[in-house]
Amino acid sequence: MGRLRPPLRPLRALAGRELGEFIVADSKQDSPEVAVVGSANVDLVVPVPRHPVGGETILGGDVVRHPGGKGANQAVAAARAGGVRTTFIGALGRDASGDLIAGSLRAAGVDVSLVDRVDTPTGTALIAVSPTGENTIIVAPGANRHVGIGRAQARRIAAAAVLLAQLEVPLEVIRQAVEARAADTLVVLNAAPSQDLPKWLWGALDVLVVNEHEAADLAGTGGAPAVLAEALLRRVPAVVVTLGGEGSLVATREGGQVMVGAFSVDVVDTTGAGDTYCGVLAAELAKGRDLVEAAQVAAAAGALATTAAGAQEAVPTAADVTGLVSAR
Ligand code: RIB
Repeated sequence: MGRLRPPLRPLRALAGRELGEFIVADSKQDSPEVAVVGSANVDLVVPVPRHPVGGETILGGDVVRHPGGKGANQAVAAARAGGVRTTFIGALGRDASGDLIAGSLRAAGVDVSLVDRVDTPTGTALIAVSPTGENTIIVAPGANRHVGIGRAQARRIAAAAVLLAQLEVPLEVIRQAVEARAADTLVVLNAAPSQDLPKWLWGALDVLVVNEHEAADLAGTGGAPAVLAEALLRRVPAVVVTLGGEGSLVATREGGQVMVGAFSVDVVDTTGAGDTYCGVLAAELAKGRDLVEAAQVAAAAGALATTAAGAQEAVPTAADVTGLVSAR
């Protein structure tokens, strides 16, 4: 099957091929690896009757601690997708929060041997969740400022089929990670939280994953998702715009745009659903699925992730995802 497919690298060279043919090189599909470089936070989650406005104090419910952080959540999601070796490259404090996150990563089957423990408190996210499951998040980065890309981390990135990163660690860390990639490593960036991207990063990206707000920020314009995707394609070969309950839009330079439908579920907490989407997308790409197929599996996983509280605890298993996809 793999031999029938064109090699992925470089994706830019594939401009002009059909959208469904954006896949990783055959050589890395045999024992696929995903390297996730990013943040790890302890999430302090408070249910609120509604989100407060500026200057307002409201009373919420009891606070609950969950393992979180966009990077760690995405690593857990990639590992739970199955069929890939997932390594998390990040930094944790030498504290109970660090232990909580390391335990959660290990339980999901993520390789944490390249996670540094540093003398700065583990990153902390203050999260309010409304009755409709919508959240607001404030992150105190802490140890995430000290993620290091040393020789061992660089070797693992080079061996990976997919390097997956987000923007909760310093851009310098992402620059070092990107420089460590091999010619056939696919670079996937979830540009969250949104910020301007330097030219070198745009030039290194194969796939950009953003929600509608992030897409508008990066495109520097408003408009429908299709318009935003078109604008972003001037800078990156492939874009996935996630649209929550509306599904996701997969767009490539010359392959056109495809809407991937959402799955209907009862939403409890949306925290980490986007991370689940990204982690599963990366795992499915690493296994050799094309971008549209990967987005379909990721959409099912992301939907299931909203049906339980917390980020990492809510990441579904591959069996649950398959069940939802086949029940459609
Ligand atoms: O995307 C959700 C995550 O954002 C939370 O787990 C929180 O830690 C922040 O990083």
